[in-house]
Amino acid sequence: MDNSLTSQWVEDFEGSTVPDTIISSGKGGWAKIVGHDYAYEAVSGHSCLNLGHAHPELIEAATEGLKTLSYCSPEHQSHASIKLSNRLSDLLGGSYKIKYAISGSSANEMALNIARKRWQALGYTKKTVCLSLDRSYHGNLGQAKQVTGFVPFKVDTHITSDDFVYISSARNASTGALYSLTEIQAQLEAKIAEIGQARIACLFVEPVGFAGGVIIPPKGYLRLLRSLCDQYQISLVVDEVITGFGRTGTWFGFQQEGIRPDMVTLGKGITAGYFPLAAVAVDEPIYHDLLTHSVPLKMVITMAGHPTGCSIALKAIEIIERDNLCAKTADNEQHIKIYFAQIKQLPILQDIRGFGHMWGLEFRDFNGYSATELANRVAQVCQENACIVAAADGIIRINPPLNINQEECDMMSQAIVNAIISVTDSVKNKLTKE
Ligand SMILES: Cc1ncc(COP(=O)(O)O)c(C=O)c1O
Repeated sequence: MDNSLTSQWVEDFEGSTVPDTIISSGKGGWAKIVGHDYAYEAVSGHSCLNLGHAHPELIEAATEGLKTLSYCSPEHQSHASIKLSNRLSDLLGGSYKIKYAISGSSANEMALNIARKRWQALGYTKKTVCLSLDRSYHGNLGQAKQVTGFVPFKVDTHITSDDFVYISSARNASTGALYSLTEIQAQLEAKIAEIGQARIACLFVEPVGFAGGVIIPPKGYLRLLRSLCDQYQISLVVDEVITGFGRTGTWFGFQQEGIRPDMVTLGKGITAGYFPLAAVAVDEPIYHDLLTHSVPLKMVITMAGHPTGCSIALKAIEIIERDNLCAKTADNEQHIKIYFAQIKQLPILQDIRGFGHMWGLEFRDFNGYSATELANRVAQVCQENACIVAAADGIIRINPPLNINQEECDMMSQAIVNAIISVTDSVKNKLTKE
């Protein structure tokens, strides 16, 4: 469709307008693209459609939820919001207070405020600095947009502040190698020494940096960050907006490291993408510090904790648990690996990495084509082959719905492999780009 025919302003993360994909309906993992056939949602919409479209149980939960209570002020509680907060706290390890938000950005914004207010309540008034990773994505609104470190996805690269400091991700951006835990510790301690422990409020980290290029840290990474945060009195905020609710094979990514974060931010898949809902889970001692010192949060968001969203979230959690979907991501991983092994030597590919339902295919400059052009071309061919993937910054990201079946998993993986082979063939024999 010609962009001039719609009043909607649509942009992708890199700022280009993407007017030609209009999705009219969906069934399971399949989306109907206007003018084309159904295509598989290999990135779960925007990494949130964990149980596919039109799931009858989620529709019923939404309908019943709306019939029972169509809205509840964020200054009150509903049965659904109470039940969900108890369920989330249990899933996270118990004794977390749940503060609802409406998007991943707003959950991170809240977590940042809570971290700062907590230190303020305890008399550490200089603790305002937020550390995050240079390849991180934590949202693009409010201060969350400053917590985001990944430059291609940053809203305002020209706005800098001493209160937002970036440290390296676990992967060396120029060599592609992972840093060792010793190197990571040395880098972080050097940064803490430079800024001063007395000024640092919190450290934000994603268990897997998905938007930043599917960066999978070495084993022990979160354990190391946990112990350094304890040592230097820094609140550890784990952003599970993408990784949460089963995508990594456990309910939450941090659980694979056996740690207890000070705060966990949740969004996207919390309602399987059926309703805008997000939350920050706050370790109870932090909540008590604010309460005891009478430091109010004052973050009241009209739509936060909407009872319909909470009802859907409860049902989504029930389905993931009942259908054993966390564990199934490991079986799917084996399938996906077999397909990707066939293409790893292709000259346009720099690296293939991933596990569970989180994969990244990194391209390299080849024959006059930039990695970004190649990734974008592959994404386009994938879509023509009935498979929707996300490309940005020369990397294709894949994270299919948790309830993908084996046939769909094979079809999705084959479509991606075919697209990469076909783009390789089309650029290989050219001496230079036309
Ligand atoms: C890890 C992470 N945190 C936060 C966000 C922001 O969420 P939202 O787009 O709902 O504001 C995202 C979005 O992609 C994300 O991937």
